[in-house]
Amino acid sequence: MTETALANLQNLYRIFTIPEAPDSTLGAVDHAISENVADFLQKHIVALERSLEDIEKDFAASKIPEEPSFVSDYAEFVKQKLVAQSVHTAAPGFIGHMTSALPYFMLPLSRIMTALNQNLVKVETSKAFTPMERQVLAMLHHLIYRQDDSFYQQWIHDSQHALGAFCSGGTIANTTALWAARNQLCGPDGDFAGIAKEGLFKALQYLNCNGLAILVSRRAHYSLGKAVDLLGIGRDNLILVDTDDHSRIDMAALRVEYKKLCERNIRPLALIGIAGTTETGHVDPLDDLADFAEEIGCHFHVDAAWGGPTLFSATHRHLLKGIERADSVTIDAHKQLYAPMGAGMVLFKDPHALTAIEHHANYILRHGSKDLGSHTLEGSRPGMAMLVHAGLSIIGRKGYELLIDLGIAKARKFAELIKAHPNFELMTAPELNILTYRYNPAWLQKEMGQLNQQQLQKINPLLDLITQEVQKRQREAGKTFVSRTRLRSSLYHGEQISVFRSVLANPLTTEEILAAVLEEQCAIVKQTEVQNYIEDIKQIVA
Ligand SMILES: Cc1ncc(COP(=O)(O)O)c(C=O)c1O
Repeated sequence: MTETALANLQNLYRIFTIPEAPDSTLGAVDHAISENVADFLQKHIVALERSLEDIEKDFAASKIPEEPSFVSDYAEFVKQKLVAQSVHTAAPGFIGHMTSALPYFMLPLSRIMTALNQNLVKVETSKAFTPMERQVLAMLHHLIYRQDDSFYQQWIHDSQHALGAFCSGGTIANTTALWAARNQLCGPDGDFAGIAKEGLFKALQYLNCNGLAILVSRRAHYSLGKAVDLLGIGRDNLILVDTDDHSRIDMAALRVEYKKLCERNIRPLALIGIAGTTETGHVDPLDDLADFAEEIGCHFHVDAAWGGPTLFSATHRHLLKGIERADSVTIDAHKQLYAPMGAGMVLFKDPHALTAIEHHANYILRHGSKDLGSHTLEGSRPGMAMLVHAGLSIIGRKGYELLIDLGIAKARKFAELIKAHPNFELMTAPELNILTYRYNPAWLQKEMGQLNQQQLQKINPLLDLITQEVQKRQREAGKTFVSRTRLRSSLYHGEQISVFRSVLANPLTTEEILAAVLEEQCAIVKQTEVQNYIEDIKQIVA
């Protein structure tokens, strides 16, 4: 071996062993982040100076670098090009999405998780992490289903069963729930070896029907569209049922849709209730849905990716009444359990349910092993359960209760501010901690009652443009942030309307910040480009 080759090899070994000097740039970045994560991330929402197009230029090269480089050089790149240009989701003025501040202990603990680099697919690469993940699943199972101690003693570490599946997020959790439901409905029976073996075409012949369908409200998260696509059910068979004036599934409309399916000989595979819709945070009438699922004999799934932790709150838990009757429930830990990105769970009432998707392999996941990989859609998985375990242990039931109660109280306060402000219109009031609203000048709100349908149909699109423009400019200014979406509004005869969407989950968001969000929006409306839309509206009204 040449001297250079030897030096290269030694350098390569060093990467896996000795870090560079602690005062290196990487050390400095690490230090800056670890020292005071809150301060580091709270100053701005985004780095203002650069557009996404400009940032893309830093990531334009498509060739893998030929030569190795110093870690310190790379750390400088991270500092300049990534950290400085990332979105500071922890900022208390960032109230537009479901990603918020993390408790400080998540950062050092996640470093331990990375250092250990466990793989939860099998016990051989995870040892104590597997029982811990099983415990986390049991804790969440208990939060929902409240079985007695003997139940958990029997099932928590049972090698043949799992109380749920830990995964990377709500999308995989929802998909896993529907996968299990599908395989249960089309399980082996007589000559039919089951859908897992024979596929959907044979399953439909066995069931003697023309297709399978999933029923859920219009407010469903788009992950369900992906799930029905993957499972061969087809996006056309994800039946989106109309909602009532409170964004909850309309039970009468649900019955109509069910009847239509029966007429086409399509079998409902699952009925889904949403506990905390992504856009408005509303909760479906879960007890009524459980009754209906029982009546028509189908799987009842609750997508509680967002709202599940409301169960911690003695005050608000009643909103989710009926969730305990669900066959399966999705909860995202990276939402209101305040774990970092990449942690979701699906819990099953019946410990046998996941047997329907069980998978074994000879070199791992052997029959009778406690490997959790036999009951998950994903293969290799990190030890994220440790961070959820940390949250549950350190924050505790009462801590989460406080966080939930605070968020809901804050959303109500924000709704009051919006209602009290002459130039804003509350579009959906918060049931949990999400609300939607829009800018609508006081004079126009007064006029709107007298306007005819034709005028309204011209005005609402202009108000939509104002919402879109204000939201964009506010995001670009980088001080505060709300998101936006489009909703059918019962206030305007079911018309689709653009609205600001606000998610109040960051405990550090204050009432002053909420008032500042509205003030900033009013200031943006005064800018010429937005005023032009107002002038257009005035002409229509005149
Ligand atoms: C109600 C609901 N379900 C499912 C999901 C999907 O979760 P994830 O983004 O973790 O895959 C979300 C995400 O916002 C959600 O709000």
